[in-house]
Amino acid sequence: MIIAIGADHGGFELKKQIISHLESKGVKVLDMGAYDAQSVDYPDYAPPVCRAVLSGEADYGILICGTGIGISISANKIEGVRCALLGDTFSAKMAREHNDANVMALGARVLGVGLALEIVDTFIGTDFSHDDRHSRRIQKMMDLEKR
Ligand code: RB5
Repeated sequence: MIIAIGADHGGFELKKQIISHLESKGVKVLDMGAYDAQSVDYPDYAPPVCRAVLSGEADYGILICGTGIGISISANKIEGVRCALLGDTFSAKMAREHNDANVMALGARVLGVGLALEIVDTFIGTDFSHDDRHSRRIQKMMDLEKR
């Protein structure tokens, strides 16, 4: 599995911890920055991660900012992206099973590291259900991009 990850300064420290956690499990990680804790603008970090997912270079994307809000909104502006802002493991499971989310966002100033890592593990470890009703709803969601 290959994961693309990106963060602003608010998510920089958590990004490092997620990368070492994933690499310790043998997951390949594409680190799209930020590479230090200098103040940056979160909308700049969503596109490289989303592009990696949409091109198939990465299986999933992880985005982190202080709250996860700004970077998730930014990601969801990109056609083809279904980014879920996650704060619990149940939602992480549902985001994959029901919504087939391809990118997840975390708030580094909201979550403890332990919970954040469990959310990551749950998200990347859960497959889409492929139930007809969920496929239909996802198609309707994606059709909203054309309006
Ligand atoms: C940066 O200070 C902060 O606004 C950002 O990390 C994020 O929380 C925005 O949604």
